[in-house]
Amino acid sequence: MSDGASDGDMLKLKPLHPLFGAEIAGLDLRNPLDDATFNAVLDAFNTHSVLLFRNQELSDKQHVDFSRRFGELEETTFSIAAPNRYIYRLANVDDDGNVLEMDAVKRLFLEVNGRWHTDSSFRANPALGSILSGKEVPSNEGDTCFASMRVAYEAMSEGRRKSLEGMRGVHNYAYSLSLFDTSGVTQEEMDSVPPVEHPIVRMHPPTGKKSLYVSGHIERIVGMPVEEGRLFVKELIGWCTRPEYVYTHRWQQHDLLMWDNRCVLHRASSVPAKQKRIMHRTTIAGQGPVE
Ligand SMILES: [Fe+2]
Repeated sequence: MSDGASDGDMLKLKPLHPLFGAEIAGLDLRNPLDDATFNAVLDAFNTHSVLLFRNQELSDKQHVDFSRRFGELEETTFSIAAPNRYIYRLANVDDDGNVLEMDAVKRLFLEVNGRWHTDSSFRANPALGSILSGKEVPSNEGDTCFASMRVAYEAMSEGRRKSLEGMRGVHNYAYSLSLFDTSGVTQEEMDSVPPVEHPIVRMHPPTGKKSLYVSGHIERIVGMPVEEGRLFVKELIGWCTRPEYVYTHRWQQHDLLMWDNRCVLHRASSVPAKQKRIMHRTTIAGQGPVE
């Protein structure tokens, strides 16, 4: 936590959902925030898990500069969606700006984001956060849905929480992509992210709070038959994403939305068939192994 005033004193916060998430009004993120304001934003991020800033028309450089305040950035691995080192471009258009055909390889690649997941959980050092900028947003589809794994963990009985201690999931991007289409990804890219194990319950270092850590990228549970493990993960994700636990974000042009991948699940509700949906994402790298 920062010194001095709490985020509530410094920032104009409005809840996005009764259980988590906040909109912050009154900031212009094109220019660097002073340290006190930045620390208040960081506190709000650690507390509320999802932050929304409206009307932020940022260049990629401004987007990267703002993101870097939170830590090192992940470099993009998958060339199918990466115009530069730090920007992951989630767009249902081709290079000429036309909406992709329904069977386009790139569209199929994007479909994996429709499953509940947390970004880069398939990395040994998974992402701390993601910051997504709505460049061109459809009017009534292509929402992004969020669910707090911290809230879900805290809502569990003591016995249930105890039963999860020591359990580990194997996260494998090749597995989650294989449910859709892997042809847009090279073998070399796939080889760069071999399967990794993370605990099913993790601690959030800034707050010390525990949360579940499940993701659509989990291929199996260590020590369980594969199918049983997948059902187990499905049940846990189902627990996290009961309708009353979910915040559904309807995008407005130039929204900037950031979320805490350590304790939040998300999914894209659709890759629109006709309307353009163009998003740019930076990814804040994790700060060490998951504990
Ligand atoms: Fe994602």
